[in-house]
Amino acid sequence: MQILIPDLLVQYGGVVPKMAEEAHAQVIDRVVEQAIQNAKLKPSDLTAVAVTIGPGLSLCLRIGVRKARTIAGKYSLPMVGVHHMEAHALVARLTEKELDFPFLTLLVSGGHNLLILAQNVGQYIQLGTTIDDAIGEAYDKIAKWLGLDMRKGGGPALEELAQEGDQDSIMLSVPMQKYKDCNFSYAGLKTQVRRVIEFNNINAISVPIISASCEDRKLRANIAASFQRVAVLHLEHKCERAVEWAQKMEPSIKTLVLSGGVASNKYVRMQLDKIAKKHNLKLVCPPPNLCTDNGLSIFFSHDL
Ligand code: KG4
Ligand code: ZN
Repeated sequence: MQILIPDLLVQYGGVVPKMAEEAHAQVIDRVVEQAIQNAKLKPSDLTAVAVTIGPGLSLCLRIGVRKARTIAGKYSLPMVGVHHMEAHALVARLTEKELDFPFLTLLVSGGHNLLILAQNVGQYIQLGTTIDDAIGEAYDKIAKWLGLDMRKGGGPALEELAQEGDQDSIMLSVPMQKYKDCNFSYAGLKTQVRRVIEFNNINAISVPIISASCEDRKLRANIAASFQRVAVLHLEHKCERAVEWAQKMEPSIKTLVLSGGVASNKYVRMQLDKIAKKHNLKLVCPPPNLCTDNGLSIFFSHDL
């Protein structure tokens, strides 16, 4: 039986490492074959194999590395290991030809929240990271607790529902406001939202969003919108501090790059654009399909 990834997301309300490993193993050969065919190439035309080596789910990364090793061995090709987050940061240079180093990058994905000052290829200063969960993890969990349709992913589902809600309707506190650093924390915000959901007796399993009454749907939309406002406000605060630090270290920076899966969210883009403008920076955001995990960014990072 073939395991489909959207089905797994629905069944488990998120990524379960063992199931994800099996799903990767089932499709890897076909995906690679399809990519080579789409590029109108034969395996013997290849000159190297680039592969993500981490950070990420080690069970899934291993499937990719094993496949890359097999191809590299069979065709006597060099193998290039690429850092997952470096690929997210550098893919902006694919679409933004004028993007010169140094630039500040905010990487927001399912597993990472990073503020990086990129000085050159391979030369990075980490200004901030998450001390617990990343923002994408919070989007995914809250989408599950709200009973959203997880087939397209928790983040996009929550973004969509938030458009129907009032972002000022539920009081949530912004994380880490007392800390004068550039680090993030989303575990506490997740707990705040879970309490609101429990207090309102929202039962995602017996009443998924599709079966919710008008009133219940409105309440869930209000929770989604209020969460999104505070989650992104936390990004804004820390990013603003990082801009100040980066401008002291590299006064010539002109660009803020926003990348990683959560960067495909329109509200995130709009709010970060305001921060960039306020500090005379240009916001550069890869197109949504290049923000989420993709092979092109891995190829491109290796090709620089
Ligand atoms: O970079 P990515 O594709 O994979 C990781 O490296 O984690 O990011 C996936 C994350 C997931 O948590 C997903 O829910 C989130 O990005 N995401 C979004 C949106 N699209 C993807 N979060 C909020 N709004 C979106 N539109
Ligand atoms: Zn990623």
